[in-house]
Amino acid sequence: MNQPNATSFPPRFIWGVATSSYQIEGAAHEDGRSQSIWDTFCATPGKVLNGENGDVACDHYHRLENDLDLIQSLGVNAYRFSVAWPRIVPDGRGATNRTGLDFYNRLVDGLLARGITPWPTLYHWDLPQVLQDRGGWPARDTALAFGDYAEVVTAELGDRVKHWITINEPWCAAFLGYGNGIHAPGHTDLAESFATSHHLLLAHGLGVQAVRANAPGAQVGITLNLAGAYPAVNSEADKAAAHRQDGFANRWYLDPVFGRDYPQDFVDLLGAASPQAQGLVLPGDLEIIAAPTDFLGVNMYSRNVVEDAPGEGFLGLRQVHVAGSEYTGFDWEVAPQSLTDLMLRLQKDYNPAALYITENGATYPDSVEDDGTVHDGARTRYFQQHITAVGDALAGGAKMAGYFAWSLMDNFEWAEGYDKRFGIVHVDFETQARTLKQSGQWYRDFLVRAQEGQ
Ligand code: NOJ
Repeated sequence: MNQPNATSFPPRFIWGVATSSYQIEGAAHEDGRSQSIWDTFCATPGKVLNGENGDVACDHYHRLENDLDLIQSLGVNAYRFSVAWPRIVPDGRGATNRTGLDFYNRLVDGLLARGITPWPTLYHWDLPQVLQDRGGWPARDTALAFGDYAEVVTAELGDRVKHWITINEPWCAAFLGYGNGIHAPGHTDLAESFATSHHLLLAHGLGVQAVRANAPGAQVGITLNLAGAYPAVNSEADKAAAHRQDGFANRWYLDPVFGRDYPQDFVDLLGAASPQAQGLVLPGDLEIIAAPTDFLGVNMYSRNVVEDAPGEGFLGLRQVHVAGSEYTGFDWEVAPQSLTDLMLRLQKDYNPAALYITENGATYPDSVEDDGTVHDGARTRYFQQHITAVGDALAGGAKMAGYFAWSLMDNFEWAEGYDKRFGIVHVDFETQARTLKQSGQWYRDFLVRAQEGQ
C-alpha cells in the first residue's frame, strides 16, 4: 500500500479539514439569516436529489462546541470553513447582522482556544437571494456588494484570523450555476456564466483589498478547482481538446489571477459569450484581479481525460473513462499522480508564493457497521495516495504548504443532497450522531506521526 511518509513534511506544514456554511450549518431560518440562492434552488422541484435542502444539514450552528471538540480530536492544526453572506448582510448590501457575526466570532475563538488555526472562505456559493433578484453574479454590482461584505467580515475577524480565502471554486459557481444549471441559481446561459466568472474574479480582487486593509500581516488567496486535462489518445485532435479543457477549467482562472490577462485562445473560442465581447472587462479590472496573493488554494479531486468530439457542447470534446482506472462514487477517476503533475506545473507556470490543497477527498457509499465504525477502506486509500502525491510534489519543488481533507463530516452535497458522503466523520442525519470513520482514524494517526516527526 502507498503509505505517505509522515516525517517527510516540514514542521510548519498545515494539516486541516474543510467544510462550508450551507453544507453543514443548518439553522437556515434563524438569527436573521436571509434566504440564499441555494435555499431557493432546493425549494425548486427536481433540482436537488430527493428534494433535500440545507435547512438542518449537520445542525452545526447549534452543535458548534461539540463540533469544535471533534475537530480538535482529529489532531489537525487548521480548519477551513466558510462564512455565510446571508447571515452577515441579510439584505446583500447594507446593514450587518450582529448575531450572524457573533456566530463566527464564537467559531474563531473556539478554534483558537483549541490551538487550531481558522481558515475562513468568504464565498462558498450561498449568495443572498436578494442579490440574485437584482441580477446575481452576471451583474457587476454583485462583485461590488461582495467587496462591502468582505470589508465587514475582515474588519470583524481580522484581528484574529490570519488566513483568508476569498472565493471557492469560481468555475463551479459560474459554470454549474449559470452555464449548465445543475447548481443554484440553475441558469443555462453561456454568456451569463462567463460574465459571472469575471465578476467572481473581480470579487476575489476586492476581497484581497479588504484583507489587506483589515487584517495586517494576514495571508490571502483564492481557491480554484483545478484538474489536469489529458488527451484520451496521443493524437493532435485529442491534444487540442485537452488544451481547450485546460482553458475552460484551469487557465481561464489562473491566468488573470496571476497577472496574465484572460487566455486569448479561450476568449476567441467563446466569441460573443466572452466577458470581453460583452463589454464587461472594464479598465482597471485586470489589475484588481491580479493583486498579489500569498498562496493559491487548489481543490483537487480527479483529472479530466478528454477526446475530441466536434459539435459536442461549446468545447467540442467528451470526457472518457480510462480502462483499468478506479472511480469514486461520483464517477471521478482516482488519479493521484495528476495531483503531483498539477502542482509541479502550477509552480513552473505561475510561481505561486505557496500552494495549499484546500480540498481533496472522495465519496463512496458508507454505512456504520455492527462494530460501530465505518470501514471506508477505499477512502482511506484515496487519502493515502493523494497525501503521498502532495509529498512527491513537495520533493519535486512545488511550494506545498498545507493539505485540507474534504470533508470534516458528511454533509449536504449540493445537487446530490445527502446521498454522497465525503466525510471522514459519518453523520447520521436522523440523530445527528457523529462517528469517526476508519479514514478519519487513519488521518488522525498519520497526523500524530507527522507532528511527532518534527
Ligand atoms: C468542491 C466544493 O467546494 C465542495 O463544496 C464540495 O462538497 C466538494 N467539491 C465535493 O464535491
